Amino acid sequence: MKFGHFDDLNKEYVIEKYETPLPWINYLGSDSFFTLLSNTAGGYAFYKDARLRRITRYRYNNLPLDQDGFHIYVKDGDTIWNPGWQPVQTALDHYECRHGLGYSVITGKKNDILVKQELYVPKYDNILLQRVTVNNTADTAKEIDLFSFVEFCLWDAMDDSSNFQRNYSTGEVEVEGSAIYHKTEYRERRNHYAVFYANKPVDSFDTSRDSFMGVYGSPKAPAAVVNGKCGNSIAHGWQPVGAHHFHLNLKAGETYSVIIGLGYVEVPVEEKFIAPSVINKSYAHALMNKYITDEQFDTGMTELRKFWNELLSGFEVKTENENVNRMVNIWNAYQCMVTFNMSRSASYYESGIGRGMGFRDSCQDLLGFVHMIPERARERILDIAATQKEDGGAYHQYQPLTKKGNSDIGGGFNDDPLWLIACTDAYIRETGDWAILDEIVDFDNNHEKAAPLLEHLRRSFNYTLNNLGPNKLPLIGRADWNDCLNLNCFSEHPGESFQITGPSEGPVAESVFIAGMFVKYGREYANILKHLGIAEEAEKAYKAVDQMTETVLDKGWDGEWFLRAYDAFGQKIGSEECEEGKIFIEPQGMCIMAGIGIETGHAQKALDAVKERLDTKYGIVLLNPAYTKYRLNLGEISSYPPGYKENAGIFCHNNPWIIFAESIMGHGDRAFELYKKTCPAFLEEISEIHRTEPYAYCQMVAGKDAPTFGEGKNSWLTGTAAWTFTVLTEGILGIQPDYDGLTVDPCIPHTVKHFTVNRLFRNTMYHITVNNPDGVQKGVKAIKVNGSDVPVGPIPVTDRKEVTVEVTMG
Ligand code: BGC
Ligand code: NOJ
Repeated sequence: MKFGHFDDLNKEYVIEKYETPLPWINYLGSDSFFTLLSNTAGGYAFYKDARLRRITRYRYNNLPLDQDGFHIYVKDGDTIWNPGWQPVQTALDHYECRHGLGYSVITGKKNDILVKQELYVPKYDNILLQRVTVNNTADTAKEIDLFSFVEFCLWDAMDDSSNFQRNYSTGEVEVEGSAIYHKTEYRERRNHYAVFYANKPVDSFDTSRDSFMGVYGSPKAPAAVVNGKCGNSIAHGWQPVGAHHFHLNLKAGETYSVIIGLGYVEVPVEEKFIAPSVINKSYAHALMNKYITDEQFDTGMTELRKFWNELLSGFEVKTENENVNRMVNIWNAYQCMVTFNMSRSASYYESGIGRGMGFRDSCQDLLGFVHMIPERARERILDIAATQKEDGGAYHQYQPLTKKGNSDIGGGFNDDPLWLIACTDAYIRETGDWAILDEIVDFDNNHEKAAPLLEHLRRSFNYTLNNLGPNKLPLIGRADWNDCLNLNCFSEHPGESFQITGPSEGPVAESVFIAGMFVKYGREYANILKHLGIAEEAEKAYKAVDQMTETVLDKGWDGEWFLRAYDAFGQKIGSEECEEGKIFIEPQGMCIMAGIGIETGHAQKALDAVKERLDTKYGIVLLNPAYTKYRLNLGEISSYPPGYKENAGIFCHNNPWIIFAESIMGHGDRAFELYKKTCPAFLEEISEIHRTEPYAYCQMVAGKDAPTFGEGKNSWLTGTAAWTFTVLTEGILGIQPDYDGLTVDPCIPHTVKHFTVNRLFRNTMYHITVNNPDGVQKGVKAIKVNGSDVPVGPIPVTDRKEVTVEVTMG
């Protein structure tokens, strides 16, 4: 069942039924101020860091679901309702939520009153803006009351939800006309406050939650709304909120509109107060004055649309399949930008108080956004590299505010270093900026230990070689890509971290997955050396890669597929010999992407085994058979019930690895068949089963062993975004940025006869047309550039602004 539709022209998803299977959200903000917004106006706002600068509250486990947010209440006689349906849940006569790129528009209609909330965060200011438009469509006059409401968080979201004995006494506000200032802790060490203002005079206001809601009240029937007016309350401790009230007399057909902003303001420490206890509001005034008029509001929106249109115009595909077009041109690219901004911090499944930036996550996310924002990708690579340790290992996470490695979790996740090569190579292929390798970057965030970025890559490469196990395969350490395969942890007590419990990182447990990574990214590293003319070292690196390839085929092959690992006792994991977990997806994908076993037939065998044992109608499960009991030697993976998460869930992140593998093998039909299985736009029709947004990838879909097979979970913040974007554009459409040019080598279904791509590469717009007259799945027989035949191969970089490319497959 569908709950809405795609509006491709406006780059929007239009939700028509408010009771979506789960809240379907959008991300507003692109730089420092962010808002998560659901289709019923739920969500929260923060500045830069969802834990340390949380502006409004959100309760994840609440019942009813998704009640905190940016709701507008209407009281029309005895009827109370919200244009977004929540939290009152009065049935609406009409409802629509348009989630667009960086903005959302929610419209509700009840008893001839139409209310529209247009919300966005402007490109250059720290503010969530909304314009509320009320239209009386009746042919008689109406007298109604309109209320806004937000509940402030006392800044540190972790503390806010736990340290009540303190928090109930710290809350402070000031009110000036229609502006409500939330200034908790400003008297002490903070130099920031929030302001919730309206551009029209209010008839009453509230800043105390008890006054607005009633002490035992609920968001379903706030006391102030029921009474038709607020209490003009000033919060002293407890729960500071912001609520505006507007009493409206609307003639037949009349429209009223008000702009409401929620801003974040920093004040230089020496200017904090203008009188004892009176905060300096001049910076807030300046901010509010920028968004007082409708023209200003509209200009901000136009700028935002322009920003997104420009950002997305660097890769535009036109195929006969509208789902492919809308995913590549709009939604998948948009999600890549969201993962750039959020990493794994704030979503409806990530609380914003947990993880910082993951080393491997950030490196992989970069693969999906480097073509859109190369300068910021460069900065990100240097930030990540600065958290690398001197021995080439890496802090597994770092904090976005400080950019420092997080010593609580530490390092020892032995795949991490190789991802640094992956993202740097992708960056160089995209930009040709070899100079990045000369940038001097700290080790361990210590400037005294700084060295050129190339040296960081060298240490990443050597880290694997310096940490080999008994079979000469890479030691897994605390975990590799699969955070839940904890072979050195042996956790027996609830509450222990699966990842960092255990005596050591282990001298025995080995990962075939890291071996595959070493072959793939080690070869990229060797290519870099070769390109730089460091020939001898390049040769040595190629040799080490060849050696690892041999080792994988010898010790990492199970007979029909690639093994997953050896545990701390040297026992096989992911083998026919195992009772459960006989085959895993990750090494099949990574080893074949690395080119291992392609000529020898191993790769084809492995893909056949994937099809036979792991494939389902909703995608490829991570392993099979699922673990049915907790296994001490495996850790968290076996803690999940069968079919969920890493225990045989359909982990969307590594499905594209198999799609890549199929495309390398030239299987265009199969690659696209697999692409469709996890692609949200193709699942729109079964939203009641899939449940998460049809325009965003989720991390995991319940696998075939799960009672809820097909149900998606953890949407938005997942490496799936970057990998599916990469596999579709590079693997299937075949547009591959390379050191010295752009390669076009598609691997498509044999039924596809034609497609076009506009691709911005090194400041040149390539207008690419691909024709497939013979209906092949792979292979290029001719290329024309600007009308002239050129040899089949990379199309060299040029100074021209525009280039036309005609590719004939066959
Ligand atoms: C999840 C993993 C995640 C890890 C992060 C685990 O509970 O299952 O997907 O990578 O936490 O620490
Ligand atoms: C999610 C984590 O963010 C990522 O780093 C990890 O690779 C996967 N889960 C698999 O465990």
